[in-house]
Amino acid sequence: TVWQQAFPDGKSPQRVLVPPSPYAIFLVLTVRTGFESTAKDFLSEIAGLTRTVGFRSREDDLSCVTGIGADLWDRMFTAPRPWGLHPFIEQRGDVHTAPSTPGDLLFHIRARRMDMCFELARLIGDGLAGAVDVADEVHGFRYFDERDILGFVDGTENPEDQGAVDAVFLHPDDVAEDSGSDSAEAGPEVAAAAAGAAEAGAVPGDGAPGLPGSTYVIVQKYTHDMPAWDDLSVEEQEAAFGRHKLSDVEFAEEDKAANSHLVLNSIEDEDGNDREIVRDNMVFGSIGSEEYGTYFIAYAADVTTTEQMLENMFIGDPVGTYDRILDFSTAVTGGLFFVPSQDFLDDPDGELAEAGLGIGGAASAKVDCPDIDDGTDPDPAVVDG
Ligand code: HEM
Repeated sequence: TVWQQAFPDGKSPQRVLVPPSPYAIFLVLTVRTGFESTAKDFLSEIAGLTRTVGFRSREDDLSCVTGIGADLWDRMFTAPRPWGLHPFIEQRGDVHTAPSTPGDLLFHIRARRMDMCFELARLIGDGLAGAVDVADEVHGFRYFDERDILGFVDGTENPEDQGAVDAVFLHPDDVAEDSGSDSAEAGPEVAAAAAGAAEAGAVPGDGAPGLPGSTYVIVQKYTHDMPAWDDLSVEEQEAAFGRHKLSDVEFAEEDKAANSHLVLNSIEDEDGNDREIVRDNMVFGSIGSEEYGTYFIAYAADVTTTEQMLENMFIGDPVGTYDRILDFSTAVTGGLFFVPSQDFLDDPDGELAEAGLGIGGAASAKVDCPDIDDGTDPDPAVVDG
């Protein structure tokens, strides 16, 4: 893979960067109290299950990305939480809200056939039966020429190749240099988390100290008011996005509205470089319940990038200038998950030990980690275990 060529000694990442797949299942689970070790043991089985189903039709390219939520990390490991892993930050604007909803494990399953996605989801459900509850399950599909259900081509501006690798997996060399200058603009909670991380010796944007090949993912399920959207003229719809509907051509800069999706989601760092994420949204829906939706999913090495975009969309930039597409889109879920490397999934305790972060057992040293809920720790380096 591009990642392995770039970092031959690095850990193998999970298959985050795959070509657009026609089908996906998004499975969000909560782990029942007392079943943390069941969940942890299961992490190392996922690769085998994916091979089991995928090998039966390799050309259909089944893949599965597993994410771990903040609460479950704390329940499974005594090792510090990766610095960017915290509960999803709710965005409460004057008009629209992005809620934070429960989720301990995320499975992002993609393939060229829905039956393969479904079979793997079923085996995951079987493997964790009795230990988990399903918080959310969405079966998504690709809609015509990569369009969302609102009719616009979705995914065009995603970074590709090395650009995607850079956006999703932090380059080990950057870890030493990057002191998280981006975080100040990402809101007080994020800045506080970053400050805590710096104190604890972690580096914003890093998976966790010593856990290369990892990334973060944010998911949101949106439902759309299709009758209201369809009542708009095509010109009004195009203004909401800042792109032409049929051709997907981007508006000239001076023609883009301040509350358009493109303006609010085009953000730069202090040096004028684009801050990028890799999205893989999917359409879902049900005629019977008149539900028409977009499942938003975005991976980023620096999760504050996605969080800044969400703040721009919901709170507005400037405040009050919120994203026009939200007048027709309601966020009904919101989750943030740490996506460790494949090596980590296969042997979490081994990887934590190798990284000098202790293991999952109670006997290991507990180093307090940055936590947006608790920025008050007097000395993050104190070992209390
Ligand atoms: C661009 C749809 C939510 C971030 C786009 C585009 C479409 C789209 C059609 C233009 C083509 C493209 O570059 O992909 C949607 C829909 C959403 C949604 C239907 C949910 C209802 C979000 C959210 C974020 C986001 C929640 C970030 C937190 C972006 C970014 C771009 C983009 C970064 C590219 C901007 C650029 O560089 O031009 N989206 N999006 N989107 N969207 Fe979204």
